[in-house]
Amino acid sequence: MAGNAARYAWLNGEYVEWPEARIHVSTAAVLTGGSVFEGLRGYSDPDERQVYVFRLPEHLTRLRQSMKIMRMTPPYSSEELAAVCAELVVRNGFREDVQIRPTVYFGEGGLFAHTPDKIDTGAFVLATPRRSTLDDEQGIACCVSAWRRLADDVMPPRVKAGANYQQSRLVVVQATVDGYDGAIILNGQGKVAEGPGACLMIVRDGRPILPPVTAGVLESITRSTLIELFAAEMGVQAVEREVDRTELYVADEVLFCGSAWEVTPITSVDRYPVGDGTIGPLTRRIRRIYRDVVRGRLPQYKHWLTPVY
Ligand SMILES: Cc1ncc(COP(=O)(O)O)c(C=O)c1O
Repeated sequence: MAGNAARYAWLNGEYVEWPEARIHVSTAAVLTGGSVFEGLRGYSDPDERQVYVFRLPEHLTRLRQSMKIMRMTPPYSSEELAAVCAELVVRNGFREDVQIRPTVYFGEGGLFAHTPDKIDTGAFVLATPRRSTLDDEQGIACCVSAWRRLADDVMPPRVKAGANYQQSRLVVVQATVDGYDGAIILNGQGKVAEGPGACLMIVRDGRPILPPVTAGVLESITRSTLIELFAAEMGVQAVEREVDRTELYVADEVLFCGSAWEVTPITSVDRYPVGDGTIGPLTRRIRRIYRDVVRGRLPQYKHWLTPVY
């Protein structure tokens, strides 16, 4: 069963044994997917003595923004949740790479209520081991999904809502059934948006190009991290502009970026090889830099890391 490597979870103020982390089936979270969450990674240092949570405050700021748009009353402060995210890794004794998932949810009460007098708001945090793929040598084969991306005026992708991932589920399952490793989703205007759980970047003529944050995407923390690293470490200015579907077919490089997907090379799209069908040079370099940043090997980026021990 997923997550059974974790002994403890945190639920509404208490560290509880994993099997005791339960909420009632009548909650809005269960009935209608009324929740917002964050997905973070913690990286062990080379000696496995420390685990660094990557960009913890930024993730909790985004969680606040998701709550704000959903008109949720925050049940805990960002500082309290930050402390829990770190402490949960320690309590579980994890020294390896981990994934951390703080979630805020609507509990029992009126199904579409939002104020504390009419519906409870709760929170939980999970932490489980998850190995990094940053040293993997394989790219992935993607299709362009027939499903269109959620839109800001339909179900805003800017909100990291649990329910948004029902669309991601449709996309991923279809891609899997069709024999692909992943899928790229176009928005309602037919422009490239993102993946089901990651943002997307292409490289043309040596320049990284990303769909803008108004293309129907999550405002990805990894995306802005990479834009910063391209400029500071490689002297390369990324361009944010609309991306056409057919640019995926002629791009020199394509990659997914996100906390979970890290920097994942996409080596074919709709069976068109990307470049020569292997991991391209910019992807290779930025991936190595990102790996060194998250593992604490580059002191100038240590301010992005929260050590848990
Ligand atoms: C739909 C979607 N887009 C983009 C991302 C990447 O966001 P981040 O880099 O902040 O993890 C994620 C991952 O959380 C995601 O689920």
